[in-house]
Amino acid sequence: MSLSILVFYGSYRETRAGIRLADYAVAQLGARGHAVELIDARAVGLPMLDKRYMDYAPGEAPANMETLARKLKAADAFVFITGEYNWGMQPGLKNLIDHFGNAELARRPAGIVSYSAGRMAGARSSSAWHPTLTSLGINIVHSTVAVGGITASLDESGTPIGDGGAALARAFPAFMDELEWWGRAVKAAKGEG
Ligand SMILES: Cc1cc2nc3c(=O)[nH]c(=O)nc-3n(C[C@H](O)[C@H](O)[C@H](O)COP(=O)(O)O)c2cc1C
Repeated sequence: MSLSILVFYGSYRETRAGIRLADYAVAQLGARGHAVELIDARAVGLPMLDKRYMDYAPGEAPANMETLARKLKAADAFVFITGEYNWGMQPGLKNLIDHFGNAELARRPAGIVSYSAGRMAGARSSSAWHPTLTSLGINIVHSTVAVGGITASLDESGTPIGDGGAALARAFPAFMDELEWWGRAVKAAKGEG
């Protein structure tokens, strides 16, 4: 069963490296026949939070927010590519997510794929996202992936390289298996399976 999957990524830095991992995730899930779209917070370009989507009257939210709200509601599963800044989450992605609520995000599974330059592999940002996503009614799948030494593990085209890349390529199929299982379960529960 093909799923509609959104892959979120939230670095605004000019020299950002996590986009390699986001591109890798999109390619891997796409190769399994899913309809996958990268939600790049920088490209979406929501402002620093003022009004949430729910604060607008129907049809009056800015076009980029409205378009994203529709995509969120239609998705079967989410993947969060979470980089780590100062032991926490990246503000660009948190800002994007804070624009929405349970009405757009709840009752879908999410997989967390963390990364960082160092050996902690973004594990602390992964942990930080758990309560935030749970508060939005998202169910986080048990399987996680963590990539340390991000630029030594993926080249600029998102191809795994070196020992870190080999470890990623070994871990990612089981992560996708888990996400797919929950995505299919949700789709069936909605009567769409
Ligand atoms: C503001 C800032 C804070 C950072 N803090 C951490 C950190 O706490 N732990 C860590 O492992 N790496 C940290 N790093 C290194 C990042 O893991 C690395 O720069 C990574 O590539 C950032 O993701 P991005 O390139 O997609 O923006 C930090 C980098 C920046 C720019």
